[in-house]
Amino acid sequence: MNIGIVGCGNISDTYFNAQKIFKNLKIVACSDIIKELADKKAKEFNIKSYSVDDLLKNKEIDIILNLTIPSAHKEIIIKSLENGKHCFSEKPLAINFEDGLEIKNVSNKKNLLVGCAPDTFLGAAGQKARNIIENNEIGKVVLGTFNIMSHGMEDWHPNPDFFFKPGAGPVFDLGVYYITQLINLNGPIMSVNSTSATPFNERIITSLPRYGEKVKVETPTTLLGVLNFHNESKFQFFCSWDVWYHTHSNMEIYGLDGSLVIPDPNFFSGDILLSKKNNELKKINNDNMLLGIPNKNDNTGSKIANYRGIGLSDMINSIKENRKPRCSLDLSLHVLETMEAIIQSAKINKEITLNTKTNKPQILKEDEVIKLFK
Ligand SMILES: NC(=O)c1ccc[n+]([C@@H]2O[C@H](COP(=O)([O-])OP(=O)(O)OC[C@H]3O[C@@H](n4cnc5c(N)ncnc54)[C@H](O)[C@@H]3O)[C@@H](O)[C@H]2O)c1
Repeated sequence: MNIGIVGCGNISDTYFNAQKIFKNLKIVACSDIIKELADKKAKEFNIKSYSVDDLLKNKEIDIILNLTIPSAHKEIIIKSLENGKHCFSEKPLAINFEDGLEIKNVSNKKNLLVGCAPDTFLGAAGQKARNIIENNEIGKVVLGTFNIMSHGMEDWHPNPDFFFKPGAGPVFDLGVYYITQLINLNGPIMSVNSTSATPFNERIITSLPRYGEKVKVETPTTLLGVLNFHNESKFQFFCSWDVWYHTHSNMEIYGLDGSLVIPDPNFFSGDILLSKKNNELKKINNDNMLLGIPNKNDNTGSKIANYRGIGLSDMINSIKENRKPRCSLDLSLHVLETMEAIIQSAKINKEITLNTKTNKPQILKEDEVIKLFK
């Protein structure tokens, strides 16, 4: 199947490079509202550059890979479907639940698939942790916590504006990894209770090339609260871009017989810590699992596992195998409704019960990963 990219910004290289890892990824063309960006990528990767409309209409393309900013996701996904193409989108699916429902309606009507990032839960850490929980090693899961705290994105991203608009903020931008991981590990969410804070009305960019420019903050930059799961467990969360330093861990899951400490769900690997009742913590390294083998250098030069693109590769395979993709529309819609409920619950100061419910995505076994690898 031929893939056409819409949106040639920061994340696009990751997908171009994923073609070296997954054998069913074949990007044949790209586009961007900024033509020069598309032309540059087309030249670099020896593919065609089109206007967005021409790419969407192109008969050679079967799947649109939507790498635009969140506020453009719905429009590009729906246009892809209307032009008879499947679409895999970067996260979040859309900037509000209503738009997500519209995407679902068009996808059903056209009988075409929509898949959505994040796909990091398919990594070694997410799959191993799922295995530990389903083998009952910590007993029934009853409680948990996740924490995302930093001082924002305006010190590294060249165009950080979208992080402070509806459809981003710490929950839509990063919470999306954590919530998706939790649905993978713990099943669907039933209701949400939250509160918010926005200590800065504007943020000052300290990255280049826009050093010193101001960005108006239009979505809360701190959200605190509780997710209530259908399995009756409760998870406390703290998502903030207003914290300089903290010592909380990313994610912890407490069962009746033990605890699990889960590495950052924004990554594919990382050690899991397992404790059984009073026993000492056991460190579980996943670097020998296929989606845990370090294959990239991060900003500090350390080797990490980065297999972004596995979700798209799995979706392409799911079309052939006539099954649901793991990074499915139902999963991303449930995540989207949860994220919107977090913002909304803080606004109206009330618990919100969700309308959507999804099953845990199918486990990804090592022998299935091997088949997708080059
Ligand atoms: N999965 C991940 O690890 C990960 C990491 C970073 C970003 N992202 C997501 O990827 C998306 C893109 O992020 P980025 O950092 O690359 O942003 P970016 O601003 O660097 O790039 C977005 C590109 O989309 C183009 N664009 C915007 N609207 C468009 C439209 N209507 N039609 C065509 N092109 C359009 C812009 O010109 C820009 O080149 C976001 O949704 C973000 O949340 C995901």
